[in-house]
Amino acid sequence: MKAIVRRSYGSESELQLEELPDPTPGKGEVVVRVHAAGLDRGAWHLMTGTPYLARLAFGLRKPRDPQLGMDAAGIVESVGDGVTRLTVGDRVFGTVRGAFAELAVGAEEKLRPIPPGMSFTQAAAAITSAITALDALRGRVTSGTRVLVIGAGGGVGHFAVQVAAAAGARVTAATSAPEFVASLGAGLHVIDYRTAPLVGEFDVVLDIGGRRPVAELRALLAPRGTLVFIGGEGGGALVGGMQRQLVFAPLSRQRFVTLLSLNTPAAIEELASLLAKGTVVPRVERTYPLGDAAAAMLQVSSGSVRGKLVLVPDAN
Ligand SMILES: NC(=O)c1ccc[n+]([C@@H]2O[C@H](COP(=O)([O-])OP(=O)(O)OC[C@H]3O[C@@H](n4cnc5c(N)ncnc54)[C@H](OP(=O)(O)O)[C@@H]3O)[C@@H](O)[C@H]2O)c1
Repeated sequence: MKAIVRRSYGSESELQLEELPDPTPGKGEVVVRVHAAGLDRGAWHLMTGTPYLARLAFGLRKPRDPQLGMDAAGIVESVGDGVTRLTVGDRVFGTVRGAFAELAVGAEEKLRPIPPGMSFTQAAAAITSAITALDALRGRVTSGTRVLVIGAGGGVGHFAVQVAAAAGARVTAATSAPEFVASLGAGLHVIDYRTAPLVGEFDVVLDIGGRRPVAELRALLAPRGTLVFIGGEGGGALVGGMQRQLVFAPLSRQRFVTLLSLNTPAAIEELASLLAKGTVVPRVERTYPLGDAAAAMLQVSSGSVRGKLVLVPDAN
């Protein structure tokens, strides 16, 4: 099979399309013929090996796994021992190892049937980014909750806006792509952060992009509001600026949450249900052939993607 491979950390120029042996499924695993693989900032961080702290988990001097990508949609090609729910030929989406390839292995429990009528491309676009949005908002929004999403036009942001609005929240979306974000749903209050200041009081603030000073974010937060740190690029090579999230405010009733989103089986199940109901609709700016992964990754690193980018192996 063909797969995107990199042998060392670095820029997108490290990415090569190579021929690798076809994978075989282990116990409880299936092999998926990948028809679409979602890209996001996480894949970019694994490619560059930044922040360096991440190398403790993924290989200190070089990546332990030369392959990349974890969001895939495709057709089950073979099943391992102990697989009970999925069979060969099923259309599935979810989390796998080495999604940027023609074939990838994933645990059965992290794969679900693609909702009827949904394309491989849309399903692959929805996985990690949408689950991050769900994790950030779960238990925090209800009818009338005032939610501010900072960085609403990207992968996580465009899902967060939809999830919050579906829960009945009053959503303010800060973005450099006001027309795109306004098209995500009726009743959104959209602010172009390039030309207008962020003002107001919010029960929940999602800090996805921009790395604004914590004092500025706290000034936007209601006295009992919750600030969820999700991401933000350019925070330093060692820890990615995570020190910004160590807020010391012992007398405050405001809450500060550092999100670590994981694609658990329950979260993938929840996502499949929301996609089937049309509660969230993935928006894909562009697809790239698998062999153009480097160009796709370059676009991810620009931070200007509206919605998601997807690699399509069959386009080769
Ligand atoms: N904590 C977790 O578990 C977790 C999980 C997934 C991702 N993340 C992190 O979350 C972040 C977003 O990921 P993503 O995949 O959604 O990336 P993305 O698609 O590149 O989106 C990032 C967004 O940041 C916004 N942004 C950039 N500069 C900004 C500024 N000055 N002010 C406000 N917003 C600004 C942009 O929003 P507009 O286009 O609207 O301008 C951009 O679309 C990344 O840092 C990623 O590493 C964290």
